[in-house]
Amino acid sequence: MRRKVIAGNWKMNKTPREVRSILTDMKDKICTEGVDVLFCVPAISLVAAVESVKGTDIAIGAENMFYEEQGAYTGEISASMLVDAGVKYVILGHSERRQIFGEDNTVINMKVKKAIEHKIIPIICCGETLEQREHGVTLEFVEEQIRSAYYNVSREEAHDTIIAYEPIWAIGTGKVATSAQAQEVCADIRGCIERIYDRETADAIRILYGGSVNASNAEELFAMPDIDGGLVGGASLKPEFADIVEFGR
Ligand code: G3P
Repeated sequence: MRRKVIAGNWKMNKTPREVRSILTDMKDKICTEGVDVLFCVPAISLVAAVESVKGTDIAIGAENMFYEEQGAYTGEISASMLVDAGVKYVILGHSERRQIFGEDNTVINMKVKKAIEHKIIPIICCGETLEQREHGVTLEFVEEQIRSAYYNVSREEAHDTIIAYEPIWAIGTGKVATSAQAQEVCADIRGCIERIYDRETADAIRILYGGSVNASNAEELFAMPDIDGGLVGGASLKPEFADIVEFGR
């Protein structure tokens, strides 16, 4: 039985002061028993976020990082910086990073390897466009993203990683994938992990669904056998996030 993960992705929202205030308020309303809960916040707010949830089991994640150790990479943040700040997770390969900032599978694989090297848990995002879904190439496209992300990652290293399946057409649109659609792709991703590694690794890796998750659809989505929680955007900034966490417990 895999422990569920409920992760908030705040994207480019909220200032450090606001992050502190929202988390201070939210942390007492969230019950973390039996579930892993984390908030991924903008880089400038990571330290404030870690301080705000101190003394609870809520963890903090970054929304991105770079794959080099240090040096002349203006504007970038390294894995060591995240570790030093108390960050435990990092979202990698989000479709917004892929589409707006041009990150490709190779870059994402390098980031995945660097995160693992520093014992930061990567939340590896994948997902198809509406056009790809309509052309019936969803599974092959997502499998390619998964295979590339895990290229040269050993079975042992893969064990604690997390995958988030986020169909692009469902992100921020209010158009959630049906639980059957989400389950189909998450099951296929698990099958892909089994083909790359083995059944044990496939059973260990947690696969989240993301894309318009809210308190009204979370229960049905999280009840699917291959969906181990959610990567929640908009709703993770609202009080309903505590209800979403409840469905993961
Ligand atoms: O990473 C979470 C995300 O992309 C989904 O966003 O607002 O549709 O829940 P949202």
